Amino acid sequence: MRNIDGAGGIVYNVRMATYTAPAKVNLSLRVSSKQREDGYHNVDILMAPIDLCDTLEFTNSRTTTLACDMPGVPTDESNLVFKAVREFEKVYGRKAKQRIALTKGIPHGAGLGGGSADAAVTLKALNEILGTNYAPEELQAMAANLGSDVPFFLNPVVSRCTGRGEIVTPKPELAGWSRPLVLLKPQFAVSTPYAYKNLTCSRRLKGINYGTQQLDDIQFVNELERPVFSKFPVLAAMKTWLLEQEGARVALMSGSGSSVFALTDTPEQARAIAERARQELDPTLFVHCGTVNPQP
Ligand code: C5P
Repeated sequence: MRNIDGAGGIVYNVRMATYTAPAKVNLSLRVSSKQREDGYHNVDILMAPIDLCDTLEFTNSRTTTLACDMPGVPTDESNLVFKAVREFEKVYGRKAKQRIALTKGIPHGAGLGGGSADAAVTLKALNEILGTNYAPEELQAMAANLGSDVPFFLNPVVSRCTGRGEIVTPKPELAGWSRPLVLLKPQFAVSTPYAYKNLTCSRRLKGINYGTQQLDDIQFVNELERPVFSKFPVLAAMKTWLLEQEGARVALMSGSGSSVFALTDTPEQARAIAERARQELDPTLFVHCGTVNPQP
């Protein structure tokens, strides 16, 4: 495609490339109660992609700019997409010069890794568009500098994540595993640092099931539920409500919240739960009905 630059009348080739960035849920999240010297906590996470996506469109440009369709999402250097560009440029030694259009499908502050997914896709896209061919290990190192769960999104397949989350080991035995999913998110967001900071000082709420749930040989548990539920009891109530629904086989908070999700046997059951959630819980809930680990 050719384009005429409005300002100087310069003609240049415009190439556009579109990438999708899928969200994740944590099937299991265990945290060491001891804080590391760098301020992080060691974790043992089982992470899976879901069929909820952001889309990023890259176009060659004279400078790097970011636009986003979702009001309230910062489009300046504080956005993880911009940080990913800068991280990439440190290694590249030159400017990436991309106009980036971000279309958000993944809600923010939801424990679904939206910002991290966008950052990982930005690294992968720049590597392809600029023809740098950096090896997966080099991209992993850049990703880990951007956030603990960014490396997972370079290759979003069911994986165990250890260390502070940045050591990613795919689980090939779960590659073909999939389940219908219903996901609920209230309007408010939860801060990840808050969840980790209050790990040891928070109490369990009475009558809430924090225990390990078993399904398909997977153990479902999230140890961040305790600190997050004690500040936001409505999330505990939503998890309990999900567990009571016909067809819900497991229910859990994802990451540090504020999403909670249930897995079912059939898509119809997931759809029925989504419908009831809007009617019985809160019509303003963000509701997604789809699939965990969708198969190609
Ligand atoms: O790595 P990321 O930027 O996503 O982490 C956000 C914050 O969450 C960290 O600054 C830290 O407070 C907390 N965190 C943690 N242990 C982890 C991951 C995150 O304490 N494994």
